[in-house]
Amino acid sequence: MLGTTMNPGPFDNDVSTDEVGLTEFQFYTTEHTVTEDVLNARRSRHGFERNSILLELEKYRKENEHLRFFVQKTAQDAINAMENDRKTVAREIHDSIGGNLTAIKLFMEFRMDSSNVSSCESGKSIEQIISYLTDTIKETRTICHQLNPRELEGFELTDAISKLINRVNQFFPGIQVDFEFKLSDEVISEKIKTVVYRVVQEALNNIGKHSGADAVKIRLIAVHNLIWLKVEDNGCGFDIHGLETGSYDQGFGLRGMKDRIGLCEGTFQVQSSPGKGTRLSATIPNR
Ligand SMILES: Nc1ncnc2c1ncn2[C@@H]1O[C@H](COP(=O)(O)OP(=O)(O)OP(=O)(O)O)[C@@H](O)[C@H]1O
Ligand SMILES: [Mg+2]
Repeated sequence: MLGTTMNPGPFDNDVSTDEVGLTEFQFYTTEHTVTEDVLNARRSRHGFERNSILLELEKYRKENEHLRFFVQKTAQDAINAMENDRKTVAREIHDSIGGNLTAIKLFMEFRMDSSNVSSCESGKSIEQIISYLTDTIKETRTICHQLNPRELEGFELTDAISKLINRVNQFFPGIQVDFEFKLSDEVISEKIKTVVYRVVQEALNNIGKHSGADAVKIRLIAVHNLIWLKVEDNGCGFDIHGLETGSYDQGFGLRGMKDRIGLCEGTFQVQSSPGKGTRLSATIPNR
């Protein structure tokens, strides 16, 4: 028996015998079986290769997921560490430098009162020193406040942003800030509030430091569990290609915004070009 296949050939009704006694049917079935075997062998080889590729892909997918988780966790740890460091630095400045300055000021005031120097030349110098000290204590408080704002503890987001704007008005009176918000009845988690607050804070810092703008618009809208934030200025703008090529790597601000928003699975976009102002846009899922 040369073939084992039970499939009928095309010559079923026309069987002829050759010299070696094999029928065309036997040739056909033999050939057919060999082809089938080859195909089956190929199929199982391809099936095996396909399975190995799928296994490889699954392995890479898992590794990728693991790396993504690791990167996210590292970024979250870095941000938590930064927030903690800010609190520590704020406390240290407040308790050490701030405390010492207040003590010096009190001492000077006491000297002023107890010795009769107010009218003479040295009295005027002491008065001047007290005035510098008062300003420095105020600035120190402002720095502490920026590092660890009380607004962040159980705060209303719009109130906290309004306070940031008040500070811009105080330090940069030439900049007009327009704040429009629509939060309807959305409940925004503390975590998301902190992200939005820090992004607006850094955006305003950048505007004050780099833009030379005289008008800023802030838009904050929360709808259907999505928060939209836009901060735009009409200042000098900058070449954002520098962000891609890494020439702005020295700064932490924009990178920090991107990381914070990325951790909430939001989107962040910077639009700017020299002379055309800057616009930051973000969407953040509220969950
Ligand atoms: N609103 C803006 N107008 C003009 N240029 C800007 C503006 N925002 C950012 N830039 C440019 O982008 C650069 C990167 O900003 P980023 O906030 O990352 O760093 P930085 O402000 O220089 O430093 P850091 O935030 O770490 O104190 C800035 O140095 C500045 O050149
Ligand atoms: Mg900055």
